[in-house]
Amino acid sequence: MSAAKGGSGREGGRGLKVQVKTAGKRTLSSKLWLERQLNDPYVAQAKREGWRSRAVYKLIEMDERFHLLKPGQKIVDLGAAPGGWAQYAAKKVGAADGRGRVVGIDLLDIEAIPGVEFTVMDFNDADAPDRLKAMLGGRADAVVSDMAANATGHRQTDHLKIVALAELAIEFAREVLAPGGFFLAKVLQGGTESTLLANLKRDFSVVRHVKPKASRAGSAELYVLATGFRGGAEASSD
Ligand SMILES: C[S@@+](CC[C@H](N)C(=O)[O-])C[C@H]1O[C@@H](n2cnc3c(N)ncnc32)[C@H](O)[C@@H]1O
Repeated sequence: MSAAKGGSGREGGRGLKVQVKTAGKRTLSSKLWLERQLNDPYVAQAKREGWRSRAVYKLIEMDERFHLLKPGQKIVDLGAAPGGWAQYAAKKVGAADGRGRVVGIDLLDIEAIPGVEFTVMDFNDADAPDRLKAMLGGRADAVVSDMAANATGHRQTDHLKIVALAELAIEFAREVLAPGGFFLAKVLQGGTESTLLANLKRDFSVVRHVKPKASRAGSAELYVLATGFRGGAEASSD
């Protein structure tokens, strides 16, 4: 891993294995990020198993626990780069054999994934929902969002930014989900906003918060999972 260049120390044991010097232009926060990456068992596992991100293990865990992804489903992946969730979803729905379909959007480009249609775009862009709908060609069985705006370090600001993204994602999910579909989105601990939660409870039969094991223990990250979409019937024929 090229990022390991500049590291001092060696690998071995279960504790901190690689320490990184703060030499040159590296700031303390980038040094800490790099150390966390280098010592993270999920990063190593993802590399070994051919997944694009450590984040994939969060989706795998939630899928195994709640039986979310099934062959033939159509999935929208918001904030898809570098593509771990999309890889896993494509595999589960059978997108590469034309059974299901995965469409993704991100500010950053991704390397192509068989069976995944992807657009580089800001989800806040007014055209984004229509672009995704056109790519989907019908209703979706799931809208999943791992979107996270760049953290400012200011807790309240970061919370508001992530809630705003989640709200947009819910609005979009309400427009595209088929009856019975599900919505999964990253939020922050400290509470999903009560109006956001109330809206989800109105539209879905079950709403729960999930903290997957692969979600770093020290982070405030949390997922909201809403299953059993009650709407969508009026346009389910498209
Ligand atoms: C944690 S990463 C997603 C990882 C992904 N689930 C995976 O497994 O590879 C969050 C992503 O959200 C994207 N993102 C943040 N804000 C966005 C926005 N407004 N529109 C589109 N993508 C956004 C970021 O560019 C970043 O790639």
